[in-house]
Amino acid sequence: MASQAMESPRLVDPAPIEEQAPAREDSLRPKRLADYIGQSELKQVLGIAIEATRCRQEALDHVLLYGPPGLGKTTMALVLAEELGVRCRITSAPALERPRDIVGLLVNLQPQELLFIDEIHRLNRVAEEILYPAMEDFRLDLTVGKGTTARTRTLPLAPFTLVGATTKAGSLSSPLRDRFGLIQRLEFYGLEDLQAIVQRAAGLLQLELDSDAALEVARRCRGTPRIANRLLRRVRDVASVQGHGRIGADLVDEALSLHRVDGRGLDASDRRLLTLVLEGYGGGPVGLDTLAAGLGEDATTLESVVEPYLLQLGFLQRTPRGRMVTPAGRLHLGWPPEGNPMDAAA
Ligand code: ADE
Repeated sequence: MASQAMESPRLVDPAPIEEQAPAREDSLRPKRLADYIGQSELKQVLGIAIEATRCRQEALDHVLLYGPPGLGKTTMALVLAEELGVRCRITSAPALERPRDIVGLLVNLQPQELLFIDEIHRLNRVAEEILYPAMEDFRLDLTVGKGTTARTRTLPLAPFTLVGATTKAGSLSSPLRDRFGLIQRLEFYGLEDLQAIVQRAAGLLQLELDSDAALEVARRCRGTPRIANRLLRRVRDVASVQGHGRIGADLVDEALSLHRVDGRGLDASDRRLLTLVLEGYGGGPVGLDTLAAGLGEDATTLESVVEPYLLQLGFLQRTPRGRMVTPAGRLHLGWPPEGNPMDAAA
């Protein structure tokens, strides 16, 4: 039962749901920097770099974007390409298994084009080593032949920009990290920006959405535009089935409660985790592996997908001895500051 709930993709999962993500997400993505809401520091830094690059007619410096999933790293790469008037080739590190995969991409790049590599921390060593001279000197060093007859041949490449994206900047090797001229972190979005993103998406989807309804979606989307847009589509389903023209906050509440997404964006998986720490371990501390076993979930998924938002909300705390539910987390689940609700009722 516990593991079943985790197996289906979560409505609030920031990772794209593979089969529907690209086309659907594309229709709501901002195309230009001026349409990109939030991440003001990132926009400012990249805006200056774009302007300077245009003046010099060079390739933009290599860019590393890092931060939690769903915050717009791919979108920003596409915006950069649009602003520079060039193509952006999109790939991800796990797809670059053989040396020829990355070589094939590099030799086909035209001057100033962008190569976007998602999950760049997962690049294998061989691919990484091919990238070093490519990034630094726009050059490929290829080994031809084997053993004593092996020779290195150098091939020039068009000046290009590598845009790397990662959720784990710390896992990137330092030689690779050092070859990026611009390293920028994407932050969780604030409520006002999220409300504006939801309103923009509603306009594109031709929905009549009240501003307090947009705020309600913003509150529940875990600081993540990708989730906001997904929740908005679920609200639209309920609105169209029930025949509502205008969408108000009450309809958002009804639609998202149906999907068990609560007022702060927690879903059943989040609540199960917090409840297990409270009921099973007196609020913690409890080790990640113990929790993972209790929930029938893989520890890495728990750490990278479920926990970050609970930590960000301050509902969960990581301590050297394990995870603990905070007073705010207890309060959110309706637990008293100490003990458990059964004691309070007695
Ligand atoms: N849709 C998804 N992310 C967005 C953003 N940052 N700005 C505008 N629309 C978006």
